[in-house]
Amino acid sequence: MKRRRPRWSELRDLIQLERPSLGAEARVARAASVGDLRLIAKRRTPRAVFDYTDGAAGPDETALIRAREAFRRVELIPEVLKDVSAVDPSTTILGRRSGLPLAFAPTGFTRVMGTEGEIAVGKVAKRWGIPHALSTMGTTSIEGLVEAVGEADRWFQLYVWRDRGASGALVERAKAAGYQALLLTVDTNVSGARLRDVRNGFTTPPALTLRTLADMAVHPAWWFDMLTTEPLRFANLVDERGSVSDMVTRILDPALSFADLDWLRGIWDGPLVVKGVMTAKGAKEVVDRGADAVIVSNHGGRQLIHAPTPLEQLPGIVGAVGDRAEVMLDGGILDGGDIVAAVAMGAKACLVARAYLYGLMAGGEAGVQKATDLLAVGITRTMALMGATSISDLTPEHVRMRA
Ligand SMILES: Cc1cc2nc3c(=O)[nH]c(=O)nc-3n(C[C@H](O)[C@H](O)[C@H](O)COP(=O)(O)O)c2cc1C
Repeated sequence: MKRRRPRWSELRDLIQLERPSLGAEARVARAASVGDLRLIAKRRTPRAVFDYTDGAAGPDETALIRAREAFRRVELIPEVLKDVSAVDPSTTILGRRSGLPLAFAPTGFTRVMGTEGEIAVGKVAKRWGIPHALSTMGTTSIEGLVEAVGEADRWFQLYVWRDRGASGALVERAKAAGYQALLLTVDTNVSGARLRDVRNGFTTPPALTLRTLADMAVHPAWWFDMLTTEPLRFANLVDERGSVSDMVTRILDPALSFADLDWLRGIWDGPLVVKGVMTAKGAKEVVDRGADAVIVSNHGGRQLIHAPTPLEQLPGIVGAVGDRAEVMLDGGILDGGDIVAAVAMGAKACLVARAYLYGLMAGGEAGVQKATDLLAVGITRTMALMGATSISDLTPEHVRMRA
């Protein structure tokens, strides 16, 4: 072959030198998936913090792994020659418009992942017009979140404490602050076996041991952020010392029962959602007692080690209560296609926790925004490739599970 010398005029058009940019936005800009954000998060946060978020219950984290595997077994069946020039992923959740069939799940201790914490999460939810649930174990107060984020679709997640008076007071505060729905979590009567936290000695607030001091050298940005902002605290609790598992054991009430659901129905007149329902029988019982929605959830695999997968439990639960209550799902979702699959199988919407928390650890509010944008692109692209232009086009005929 005859060679020639490269010409500058041709090379010039190929060179795309970007101006180096710094900061959180630049850091997350090239993430092509939530998995990429997870890797950035892992580099940037102390191991105990990353593990608290990423981890699940048991030696093999079985329930989380299985929940993710269930999504891998999904086949989505496309229709051809449909005009998909305009795809609308919006829907209604609990009677209100939502920009996506997605809500942000409640997470405890959120500011440890990035000090912007629940406020960053709430701001991104508002921008996308999707609901955000604040946890009882949150690190931003019920009122503080409203003050910082303003009017938005907001839910309050309740762990019923041993002290029913204190639980009732939280519900009253959420009502007074304008939270639209109450989520009662029913899968945390005792703490799950979070082995990574035990091994890492994860406590609240993080203890300053020799190991943490050594960690400062490797994660200076995280420590700087933590030590130069408001101290980390469970903003809605009174007694907040010890490991997360100690706290859960001290505060949560293993005696929680259906009578408590009746009590809550009596003091909360807005939408009541029960989170952590895993059977058709359980769903019927809570809906009979006045729940407006259930969330099929195994708590992201953080509680019962051998819990079934939410996706496989979903059709039975939709069949049992879908005509009189909304059914939502969470656990293991890292991609918009997972959400489309669950919606096609009858879920009104999905919730995610780790997906936005990886974003928060990777780049604060910009990272949460990136995670949500990636999920949204995944939803609309999957819909378009399936020939669906609206959420109502997604039906059970479009989805099946490989054996
Ligand atoms: C770090 C972390 C903290 C959580 N804290 C709470 C909580 O305080 N209350 C609750 O109901 N669920 C809590 N969850 C469970 C989530 O709300 C949700 O059910 C689950 O994580 C969904 O799975 P995903 O993280 O794979 O999306 C927490 C999950 C994580 C990862």
